[in-house]
Amino acid sequence: METTLIILKPDSLQRGLVGSIITRFEQKGLQIVGAKLMQISPELAARHYKDHHGKPFYEGLVRFMTCAPVIVLALRGIGAITIARGMMGATFGSKAAPGTIRGDFGVSNSFNLIHGSDGPEAAARELELFFARGEIVEHARAIEPWIYDCSGGRPE
Ligand code: RTP
Ligand code: MG
Repeated sequence: METTLIILKPDSLQRGLVGSIITRFEQKGLQIVGAKLMQISPELAARHYKDHHGKPFYEGLVRFMTCAPVIVLALRGIGAITIARGMMGATFGSKAAPGTIRGDFGVSNSFNLIHGSDGPEAAARELELFFARGEIVEHARAIEPWIYDCSGGRPE
């Protein structure tokens, strides 16, 4: 099992797309183990996007991520990081394929609705940045045996 950090960016909230986006993850079978509304500080944005520091789009990216509230989610499942990235689609709304979140809900390249961790190390680092101890609540779902085939003793 893997947990990934998702951020529903300010444009998702302002455009009223939060429910539609979260519904996609729920319907896919990913489990919500953390969720909160927050306003990202410039300091937190800088830590989160440290790898992009100095790039031409960096200042605008931090301004965008801090301009209005976001919703952060911790989503859990087998292969959750790769699955969520696939569901998000390509970085730029103008290029993202239909059927993906960015492809279906936006056209802008910088206002691209959603962030998802891009690998296990990033996920661990980002979950720690955005969730305090106790804010991620791992719990059993009654529906789990219908989400995964557990007949072999472990979820498949
Ligand atoms: P994210 O980190 O937000 O999930 O997006 P990503 O992995 O798909 O893309 P990444 O390369 O990490 O870029 C982070 C965010 O910076 C903006 N960006 N602008 N103008 C540009 O060339 C450019 N490249 C990236 C996007 O808002 C992207 O989500
Ligand atoms: Mg990224």
